[in-house]
Amino acid sequence: MQFGLLGLSFVLLALLLASAEARRSRRKGIHRVELQRDTDQRKILRNLGQQSRVIGSKLGLVTTTAEVTSAKSGVPTETLTNFFNTEYYGKVSIGGQSFGVLFDTASANLWVPSVKCTQQVCRQHQRYNSSRSKTYVANGSAFEIQYATREEAVILQGFLSTDKLKIAGLSIQNQTFAEITSMPESVFNRSNFDGIFGLGFRSISIGDVNPPLFNLYEQGLIDEPLFSLILNRNASEPSNGGKLLLGGSDPTLYSGCLTYVPLSNVGYWQITLASISLDSQSELCANCEAIIDAGTSLIVVPSATLATINRRFGITAADKRDGVYTISCDKVSSLPDLTFNIGRRDFSLPASSYILNYSGTCVSGFISLPDGGNDLANLWVLGDVFLGPFYIEFDMEYKRIAIAPKL
Ligand SMILES: *[C@@H]1O[C@H](CO)[C@@H](O)[C@H](O)[C@H]1NC(C)=O
Ligand SMILES: *[C@@H]1O[C@H](CO)[C@@H](O)[C@H](O)[C@H]1NC(C)=O
Ligand SMILES: *[C@@H]1O[C@H](CO)[C@@H](O)[C@H](O)[C@H]1NC(C)=O
Ligand SMILES: *[C@@H]1O[C@H](CO)[C@@H](O)[C@H](O)[C@H]1NC(C)=O
Ligand SMILES: *[C@@H]1O[C@H](CO)[C@@H](O)[C@H](O)[C@H]1NC(C)=O
Ligand SMILES: *[C@@H]1O[C@H](CO)[C@@H](O)[C@H](O)[C@H]1NC(C)=O
Repeated sequence: MQFGLLGLSFVLLALLLASAEARRSRRKGIHRVELQRDTDQRKILRNLGQQSRVIGSKLGLVTTTAEVTSAKSGVPTETLTNFFNTEYYGKVSIGGQSFGVLFDTASANLWVPSVKCTQQVCRQHQRYNSSRSKTYVANGSAFEIQYATREEAVILQGFLSTDKLKIAGLSIQNQTFAEITSMPESVFNRSNFDGIFGLGFRSISIGDVNPPLFNLYEQGLIDEPLFSLILNRNASEPSNGGKLLLGGSDPTLYSGCLTYVPLSNVGYWQITLASISLDSQSELCANCEAIIDAGTSLIVVPSATLATINRRFGITAADKRDGVYTISCDKVSSLPDLTFNIGRRDFSLPASSYILNYSGTCVSGFISLPDGGNDLANLWVLGDVFLGPFYIEFDMEYKRIAIAPKL
């Protein structure tokens, strides 16, 4: 029996894997993990299943909950929907057609399923129909993204099109995006979002397409080339999933001052952390390279680091369930904080943040990628588990992030 049947366990890894050789043949990793369930959890899971079906009827949900709001500061704001703390998505419209899109800081393209995709998995999602849009401009260049899962590489294919993109009440003219005509069912079957909205830099954009956020700024629709993100971690409030602020920051959403950190590599939102440690003494790494990835559910660590963390938590191979590690909920209160030294300041993540609790089944928030000899082997991927307690501003002009505890 698996959580997956109820649409609960969609643990995502939306991370563009940069291939060493070909800049154009980039790979994205989306990783789905299925958690085992025990029979005594049946009732709770049935409830969750109902909840997920409500969420799954995305036509209703995405339109009603992912509304455009305006923060006190007047910054255009996209409200996010939180699906079981594993997917954060919001509503955009392309050529007047609505889509739920996952906001992914570790890739830079926008794509949605095309009406030309007749696969069942596409039909389960909103599909873009260019014939229904007056603002459609044909492009037609072939588009391909490769996804890596634990089992096999999966590929999305389609072609580029251009249309008006509306987000948080702002209309971007002539945004080029991909219409997907073929996508792997195993990965997207249960996703609640239709497509992915990349918030990375143009240097990692497939087809060298100018990413939406850059067009937003270049077309004068936002004052500053930056965005801010907060993700909420209460899965019981899916419609209060967080906010994506476009073109500004809102000091009422964080406490104290922002700490600024320059990017160590521009493409992803990649930074160098002086250290990451458990108990603020046992150092897991020094001068750690990490990317901030809202498209990944958990925290991805190098495999040797995962072994260290699991040893410290008393997690053994027997606790592994389809790629994630379960841990007794009783242990959570005795687990140490994880401390990230960012820009000479310590940011702590308590166990209550990095252990996920699915109705009494506790799951460690740390996983590692299979060792594929890829260039991300030593990279930390700071996904939604990390983002939870923080407010982060992503600055495209000064190529830096700014971070503070969320209020
Ligand atoms: C796309 O839209 C056109 C114009 O409204 C319509 O005739 C066509 O049936 C639509 N295609 C599909 C597959 O729904
Ligand atoms: C969008 O593209 C169309 C067709 O190429 C062009 O006529 C129009 O001027 C463009 N609009 C903007 C705002 O760039
Ligand atoms: C995907 O969903 C459809 C309809 O819900 C179902 O028929 C199909 O078996 C599913 N495929 C997988 C791989 O789960
Ligand atoms: C298609 O879009 C790409 C990326 O924006 C652009 O470089 C290319 O010129 C476009 N091709 C056509 C035929 O419009
Ligand atoms: C999560 O949301 C539910 C429903 O609104 C609320 O009852 C509960 O107190 C919240 N939990 C936390 C920890 O804030
Ligand atoms: C996990 O969730 C269960 C059921 O919702 C709750 O009773 C328990 O206190 C939680 N444990 C932790 C460590 O959060």
